[in-house]
Formats: sequence, C-alpha cells, structure tokens
Amino acid sequence: MAAGKVLLVGAGPGDPELLTLKAARAIATADVVVYDRLVADAILALVPDGAARINVGKQAGFHPIPQDEINQLLVRLAQTGRTVVRLKGGDPLIFGRGFEEAQTLAAAGIPYDIIPGITAAQGCAASARVPLTHRGLATGLRYVTGHCKANEPLDLDWQSLADRETTLVIYMGAANIAEIADRLMEHGLPADLPVLAVCQGTTPHERRVSTVLNGVAADTAAASFDGPVLFIVGDVAALALQTEAEDEVRVAELAVVA
Ligand SMILES: C[S@@+](CC[C@H](N)C(=O)[O-])C[C@H]1O[C@@H](n2cnc3c(N)ncnc32)[C@H](O)[C@@H]1O
Repeated sequence: MAAGKVLLVGAGPGDPELLTLKAARAIATADVVVYDRLVADAILALVPDGAARINVGKQAGFHPIPQDEINQLLVRLAQTGRTVVRLKGGDPLIFGRGFEEAQTLAAAGIPYDIIPGITAAQGCAASARVPLTHRGLATGLRYVTGHCKANEPLDLDWQSLADRETTLVIYMGAANIAEIADRLMEHGLPADLPVLAVCQGTTPHERRVSTVLNGVAADTAAASFDGPVLFIVGDVAALALQTEAEDEVRVAELAVVA
C-alpha cells in the first residue's frame, strides 16, 4: 500500500478565527487527526465526521503518551495510506517538538508538510493590544522556555536575557515564574519592569494580569490562573495598561453619548 502523508499543522493559540486558511483546509482533508491538549474544542469541531481522532495530550509533569511513541504512531498511521493531520497548539515548531516528529517521518520515508500557526506570543499580545517590538521601547524579541525537567534548575543565559531593550516572552513559565523574575532582577532588570501575564489568551476564558517583575509571582498566584499562561516581560507590557485605561474612557464616553 502506498504510504499516506502527515501534515504537521499549527492550530494557533485558541481562537478558531486565528487558524490559517491552509490549516483549515488540511483539517478538512484528514482521515485521522492526532492532537494535543492545547488544541481548542472549537478547532476540533472542524474535524470531518468520518475522521478518527487521537488525543495524545500532554500536560506539565504528566505525559500520557511519550514523544517517541507519538513519533512512531504518526509513522504507523501514515503507513496505512491515510492522510494524518498532526494538530498542535500555536505553531508546531515553537516549543512544540514538531521537528522531532518531522525527523522521524523523514527517516521513515513518510511524506510530510509543515503548516505554521500563530504562536501564543502573537495571539496573546494582539489580544492584549501590546506590540512585542516598538520603536523606542523594544528593538528585539526573544521567546524563552520557563520549563525545566523535574528537579533540575533552569538552565538559561540570564545575563543575555536581562536586556531591557529586548522583550522576553516566556512560555511554560508559570511554575517557575518566581525564580525567573528573581534571576532577571539579579542580572540587572529593574524590579518595576512591566510584565503582562496572559492565561488562555484569545479564548473566551482569557484572563490577564498587568504587573511588574518583583510582583509577578505573587500577583499571578493570587489570580489562580487555570490554563496555559504566557508572560510578556518588558517595557512594551505597560502599553496593555494604557489600552485598558483607554477602553474604560471609551466605554465611559459611549455611555455619555447614549
Ligand atoms: C508546549 S508550549 C506550546 C507552544 C505552542 N507551540 C505555540 O506556538 O504557542 C505551551 C505553552 O505555550 C503557552 N500558551 C499556548 N497557548 C496559550 C494561550 N492560549 N494563552 C496563553 N499561553 C499559551 C503557555 O506558556 C504554555 O505553557
């Protein structure tokens, strides 16, 4: 039997409207969809009725299906001649281990394609109306993992991260945000540097906390976030405060007109 193919598809940060046209078209052609925990229900609703769905969802500290098994599962499914859509939250190659899957497919001679998705950083920033770079505030941007293996210290280049001109976007950082903030301050970032924490960004459950570096751990703990959290660290994060204040003014103005 001729091998099928695997489409490694980015599902975006949550809002189904942020799916690319190419991703939506790929999902519509699927015989089987292998998906992660962060893929929104509204996007799974686009999976054709006849297509099989396999949940290989992972969460921090709890991996129902090890990555190697997911890699082999994709190979086996494609070898049955089916079109397999491997659906991952955000972009499949940003902190998504998508390229490990691609390498396994390539080694097995399975055709595959990569369809990018809007990563959480872009989705959350746009939702909060924060620019990740902005003339005079941030000349660059870094995506950083805040996750470390159990019982191992975070292995990051703190000196280079502590650059006030660069916006830091921290993925998977909720469990370690106190340590991350401490290290950044130790390496020179000011205690009052703005930070925006976004939970479940771009979904109807989105929540945000605007804070500063020396308050981020306490403020996000107090918020009792439930879901994935992204931290935007840098002067641009203060612009969220401005736009929220503008919102209030605008709402007040509209109330006067009405
Ligand atoms: C394993 S990484 C996957 C990232 C994904 N591939 C991407 O490009 O967005 C999971 C982390 O992404 C972030 N994340 C993903 N979706 C998010 C959302 N809707 N709101 C806030 N953070 C999100 C969180 O930091 C979460 O811990």
